[in-house]
Amino acid sequence: MTFEEIINYRRSVRYYKDAPIDPEKVQHCLELASLSPNSSNMQLWEFYHITDPLILKRLSVACLNQQAATTAQQMVVFVTRQDLYRKRAKKLIELESLNVLNNSPVEKQEKRVKTWKLYYGYVMPFLYSRFLGIFGIFRKILVSIVGLFRPITYQVSEADVRVVVHKTCALAAQTFMLAMANEGYDTCPMEGLDSRRVKRLLKLPIGAQINMIISCGIRDNRGVWGDRMRVPFDEIYKRV
Ligand SMILES: Cc1cc2nc3c(=O)[nH]c(=O)nc-3n(C[C@H](O)[C@H](O)[C@H](O)COP(=O)(O)O)c2cc1C
Repeated sequence: MTFEEIINYRRSVRYYKDAPIDPEKVQHCLELASLSPNSSNMQLWEFYHITDPLILKRLSVACLNQQAATTAQQMVVFVTRQDLYRKRAKKLIELESLNVLNNSPVEKQEKRVKTWKLYYGYVMPFLYSRFLGIFGIFRKILVSIVGLFRPITYQVSEADVRVVVHKTCALAAQTFMLAMANEGYDTCPMEGLDSRRVKRLLKLPIGAQINMIISCGIRDNRGVWGDRMRVPFDEIYKRV
């Protein structure tokens, strides 16, 4: 399939055939998903690839027994891990410093490594830290003052940062679904779920959040609910 054909092929499938899919291929699609663009390359996501029949059964209950879940061969839980920001930032100082050593001219290396250390050592921990909304309010006040003098990002409250982490994770989910379509496999993204049960089932820590669950399998005829309906394109397309 061409890229355009893959996009057209992907549908949300609500009923799968009773036919197995290759977990290695699904894992490969998740490897591709990890290449998705993500905010500041912080990669605050985890992908739980569920193949165990018992866990699948319990997970489909947590997905409110939707047929997209009960008939799925495998599922992937996309999880945000904002709580890992310090660990990721530390790793990124290491990775970006290596990147500079490998790719930057010698005379620019010291300055560039210093910039990465500042960004991941101070800016990111400052942006991602949270405490009952208070840190976010402090950041908002700060950017409002700086914003009087120069352009600045205003989306710095704790709720704003949560949105950033979730939209980044959703991009990985979309890459995954397209990669699965490329394999001839089907998916259904689901947010109709009981996140508490899912977290308990996967023994996730308190700082983890469920972004969405994607069920996987091969479409049954009943699985695609009619034509693809979209509002007219000229209602949403604005060329400026
Ligand atoms: C974040 C998100 C959550 C969704 N949750 C559900 C869900 O819980 N159950 C379901 O059947 N479909 C769910 N969908 C699928 C949408 O209903 C579907 O993408 C939309 O109707 C368009 O159809 P298409 O994906 O076939 O193009 C979800 C889609 C997204 C992006």
